[in-house]
Amino acid sequence: MSDFEGLRALVTGGASGIGRATAELLAGRGAQVAVLDLDPSSVDKPLLACRADVTDDTSVREAVAAAVAGLGGLDVLVNNAGIGAQGTVEDNDDAEWRRVFDVNVLGMVRTARAALPHLRASAHAAIVNTCSIAATAGLPQRALYSATKGAVYSLTLAMAADHVREGIRVNCVNPGTVDTPWIGRLLDAADDPGAERASLEARQPTGRLVAAAEVAGAIAYLASPLSGATTGTALAVDGGMQGLRLRPAAR
Ligand SMILES: NC(=O)c1ccc[n+]([C@@H]2O[C@H](COP(=O)([O-])OP(=O)(O)OC[C@H]3O[C@@H](n4cnc5c(N)ncnc54)[C@H](O)[C@@H]3O)[C@@H](O)[C@H]2O)c1
Repeated sequence: MSDFEGLRALVTGGASGIGRATAELLAGRGAQVAVLDLDPSSVDKPLLACRADVTDDTSVREAVAAAVAGLGGLDVLVNNAGIGAQGTVEDNDDAEWRRVFDVNVLGMVRTARAALPHLRASAHAAIVNTCSIAATAGLPQRALYSATKGAVYSLTLAMAADHVREGIRVNCVNPGTVDTPWIGRLLDAADDPGAERASLEARQPTGRLVAAAEVAGAIAYLASPLSGATTGTALAVDGGMQGLRLRPAAR
């Protein structure tokens, strides 16, 4: 029997990239899966599509209720919806800081708040937050984005402490640069997309971008009932970017 057989999962931002790969992997391993997204029009059966904006508390509550009704309960929440921001601390105005925090941090708060009463009824409850290497390494031109992911990292630890005695595990994944539509849009906007991609690849010791399926695999590991002793951790999926210090390759 597969580890997710009989479990019910909700993945935010599940219509694209990491969220999509995660929803499909969990479904492939036996879970019933609902996807919460701003635009779930590309989401097909067996995934259950729920349209919602994580910045709107009412819409999140309605989507979580619809997912729970459709799935018959909830065991796993993957808090993954997020947006990017570029620039130094001088480059984004207050409105942009509020907007990105609203999606990346408060979005996870709203979804968790709506999901927790249902997770408490599960024998295998787990929350996995999509954080980022930007939470633990200083990346240039990412002040606002990094601040939101630092908050996600701290929130993960605090939530893990708050809910451990209720049997709810909370962990996060810290991806490096992942080959998703998001990065595709970033590269398209660069002056020289080829050079930009080569530079992002070179930043990761593996010499390539992370695949969305590899992040999905890490999320599934943390969400699985087989990982019942793992809570309050951040799992790097970054091609070695955080932990390794290589010498330049010999030419
Ligand atoms: N791609 C990377 O290099 C990378 C690296 C580290 C962390 N991450 C994180 O992974 C997560 C997913 O990124 P991705 O690369 O798969 O992006 P993506 O743009 O491919 O997918 C993001 C999804 O989130 C949805 N979404 C955005 N705002 C929303 C909102 N307000 N309400 C509901 N849904 C919303 C979008 O519609 C989209 O389907 C994000 O939290 C991101 O910060 C990405």
